[in-house]
Amino acid sequence: MNRLFVTLLLSLPILAHAVDLENGKKQARSCALCHGHYGQGTPGPASPRLAGTPAGYMIKQIEAYIKGERINPRMVVTSSLHSISEDDIDDIAAYYESVNLDRINPILNNIPLWPGDAARGKELYDECKSCHRKTGMGKSRKGIPALALQYPRYLFRQIKMFQWDKRVHDDDPEDEIFDELSDNDIEALLAHISTLAPNNKK
Ligand code: HEC
Ligand code: HEC
Repeated sequence: MNRLFVTLLLSLPILAHAVDLENGKKQARSCALCHGHYGQGTPGPASPRLAGTPAGYMIKQIEAYIKGERINPRMVVTSSLHSISEDDIDDIAAYYESVNLDRINPILNNIPLWPGDAARGKELYDECKSCHRKTGMGKSRKGIPALALQYPRYLFRQIKMFQWDKRVHDDDPEDEIFDELSDNDIEALLAHISTLAPNNKK
């Protein structure tokens, strides 16, 4: 290593703390009540899956709940999110990202097929592909979540939240992508998206 390089290294600001998966797992016990023992969630609207969620996206969401930009006072209070340190939040997010449901038990990874006009949903999904990808797997590095790994009932509620201006989609408060969608359109979209879940692929 040459001297210039060493000097550069020494003058770098202290980097973010190294994540501690064991601590993340311990801290995540307070999430299990609603999100399931492994973060697998349940098919209802109020228990999204956390297992396998990219850490960057998850940290951003937790911050949004703490600031009240996403509304969920029960979660903030039950898990004392206001008083968890940033390092602990990083650890929890890294822990959930590392959970591989298929390895624990493939049944935990199942997403129910959603009834609805999947063919029409596929057409509507053309508007979403550039970001959430044709596969529905999103782009984790860009903070775009995988819709195909999430429960349709929860996603339905999120799309309503976007329509009602209670949650901001894609960091753009002016986003009009959902404005024209009827509830039937949303059902159709979800019917298509649910066919993209790994367990529903033929
Ligand atoms: C009292 C129940 C409850 C507890 C405890 C709880 N959550 Fe949640 N969580 C919810 C509900 C309900 C939602 C969906 C809310 C909505 O519609 O935005 C949610 C949503 C989330 C989301 C958004 C998921 C997505 O795909 O955008 C994240 C991330 C999350 N919770 C993380 C956590 C973490 C981490 C913990 C533990 C520190 C935790 N939650 C504890 C009920 C809970
Ligand atoms: C230009 C990129 C872009 C396009 C196009 C796009 N999305 Fe998104 N979407 C995002 C981003 C980024 C997020 C994460 C928002 C956040 O950080 O809260 C997101 C989040 C979501 C969520 C919330 C997921 C969760 O786990 O809570 C849903 C549902 C969703 N999008 C549905 C759609 C649908 C349906 C379409 C097509 C009609 C679509 N999106 C088109 C970028 C996009």
